[in-house]
Amino acid sequence: MGGVNRVAVVVLGDLGRSPRMQYHALSLVEQAEKEVYIVAYAGTKPHASLMHNKRVHIHYLATLADALWFLPLSMLPKPIVMALKALHQLAVLLWALIFIVPAVDHVLLQTPPCIPTFAICKLACLAKRSELVIDWHNFGYTLLALSLSQGHFLVRLAERYERALGRFGDHHLCVTRAMRKELESNWGVGRARVLYDRPPQFFQPLSYPELHSLFVKLSTDLSRPMHVGDCCAAAQRDPSADGSSSPVTRSAATRTLFTRRVRGEVEENPDRPALVVSSTSWTPDEDFGILLEAARIYDDMTHDLASYPRLLFVITGKGPMKEAYREKMAAMEFKKVAFRLLWLSAEDYPRLVSAADLGVSLHVSSSGFDLPMKVVDMFGCGVPVCSANYSCVQELVQSDRNGMLFNDAQELAEQLKALFHNFKSHKNSRLAKLKAGAMDSSKRRWTDEWGKVGMEVFAQKRGKEE
Ligand SMILES: *[C@@H]1O[C@H](CO)[C@@H](O)[C@H](O)[C@H]1NC(C)=O
Repeated sequence: MGGVNRVAVVVLGDLGRSPRMQYHALSLVEQAEKEVYIVAYAGTKPHASLMHNKRVHIHYLATLADALWFLPLSMLPKPIVMALKALHQLAVLLWALIFIVPAVDHVLLQTPPCIPTFAICKLACLAKRSELVIDWHNFGYTLLALSLSQGHFLVRLAERYERALGRFGDHHLCVTRAMRKELESNWGVGRARVLYDRPPQFFQPLSYPELHSLFVKLSTDLSRPMHVGDCCAAAQRDPSADGSSSPVTRSAATRTLFTRRVRGEVEENPDRPALVVSSTSWTPDEDFGILLEAARIYDDMTHDLASYPRLLFVITGKGPMKEAYREKMAAMEFKKVAFRLLWLSAEDYPRLVSAADLGVSLHVSSSGFDLPMKVVDMFGCGVPVCSANYSCVQELVQSDRNGMLFNDAQELAEQLKALFHNFKSHKNSRLAKLKAGAMDSSKRRWTDEWGKVGMEVFAQKRGKEE
């Protein structure tokens, strides 16, 4: 029996914040020429190319809070809420897969979360005679262990479930070689394919005029002071403004913190700060304190040395610990360092990344088997990265080629110093070398990777007919 050329993509999370599943969906449509049915939760807006694609159909699942609007969920004990949530997910997901999504050849499922999706998707696949493709981003129980504790009985239960049902996928994709090895040797998975996260086309290096228009757009956010005596705040340097009207709005079109327009040409400001970008989901698995501490050490060591630039750290993302850190940062006094916390649209985020001189990643994997997507994006824009070091990160960041690895705040501070020394006179050969390495990494794209690995799984029709 031939296929129907349709694939269901299941994400039990905010679709807009699941870039890899969005890229899968786009590749399924554009590279494998499938009709795609996405089943996910609403939240952040997905990328425009997905929303406006006629062959992509998105079905948003109702949340427990939608269904039980009359119950104050936050007042119930946590285990009861979790159980209710799982039951509710089970019901709405099964309903969506059986009755809303038409017949499909494959169900592509992101894990984690795997509860209850492994069981439900397998059931739906059996009922509809589709194949289940599991895309392993991480191991769910290791994430659960972060919020409960290592030996908690729920964590052990979740691990049993994950190990028991994970092997029932008909195909397995995963994000690192280390994870493939783990799945094949310890999880009873016969064959897993590594499909590395690679940047999609919209992560690209930008030209000066493009950078300038971005900085004009962000000028209010970037020049708003966050600290006492903020070294990157508005108006503190702009000799061309005549002091009367608001310097930011008046002169932003010709001059920003980083760029200026001189006789129609855009160039860098000679005394611009270096721009360091990081994104975080403000969760306990990223120790943001390391970056703060490294910034403080850099500030202490360099504040009276002219050969080191000011550093502006722009941190994007939102999450539970953001406000606590915002307060902490606002209370810190720096001479040469400033922070900004921004939340950017899916279109502006790649542009900000490509404007950066350096990216920083604090991600350390909960399982030791996954890689930080933000670093993939930074490489896409040709931006070198200082990354927290952990077991498999070398599959992505190669020390002294496209980035550097640090083990603590002191090491990160030393790396910032080493990379930004003589920044203004463009005489830093280490930064230039890493930049070249990152540019090299930027050539490897998602569509290339998917064309090799994804096509192999999805292009064949069921029953192996052509
Ligand atoms: C990173 O950590 C690994 C152990 O996980 C260690 O073997 C390696 O030397 C570290 N690399 C750097 C650059 O510190």
